[in-house]
Amino acid sequence: FSSGPLSGVRVLLTAGPTREPIDPVRFIGNRSSGKMGFALARAFVSAGATVELVAGPVSLATPAGVARFDVETAREMEQKVLDRVTECDIFVGCAAVADYRPEVVADQKIKKNNEQMEIHLVRNNDILATVAALSKAPFTVGFAAETQAPETYAEKKRIAKKIDMIAANLVGASEGGFERDENALTLLWEGGQKRLPLADKGMLAEQLVTLITERYENRYPA
Ligand code: C5P
Repeated sequence: FSSGPLSGVRVLLTAGPTREPIDPVRFIGNRSSGKMGFALARAFVSAGATVELVAGPVSLATPAGVARFDVETAREMEQKVLDRVTECDIFVGCAAVADYRPEVVADQKIKKNNEQMEIHLVRNNDILATVAALSKAPFTVGFAAETQAPETYAEKKRIAKKIDMIAANLVGASEGGFERDENALTLLWEGGQKRLPLADKGMLAEQLVTLITERYENRYPA
């Protein structure tokens, strides 16, 4: 039994990157460290929620009280999320899911016989949009990492993916976000937004959980 504003509320999160195999030794990946998602999982536990975390390949310890499922590819992440999503009230998609995967995965290591090579990629499903479109969709929260105009692009994504809230942040050479311990975010929802200035990801996660809780309670009054 736990106390706190989210006592009895079940939260499912995704975090980290995905890896899309090219052959047995190579993959397409991205720079997500998973730190924001893991900090969020910890903050949700502190708020009293029951927390499940679907994690891509990261080198982070599982926060106390969190049930963790490790996955590698976007399709594995999607499968695990769809397995667990009917058991959750709030879904937070924090993972940097690969948009594309190699259509064919070579079963032996590819040899460098040619000066050029091509890898044909196909789109991965959008896990967050899929969850938001479920007939019994949980309260859905996404992230938008952008290299320019983060609020503008994030608001477009929030509407296109039909999600309840989105956290926008700038990523790139000198910005927060990927591979860092600090970040700055703007959280947007229908009819409102709040800017959270540069802070440690743990602090930021606590602020995010407070705002998510407010909007969640607003949508499902006790
Ligand atoms: O469209 P974009 O990839 O920028 O959207 C980012 C948000 O969508 C994040 O919350 C991410 O976890 C989620 N996402 C997803 N499945 C994908 C791509 C993105 O859940 N295939």
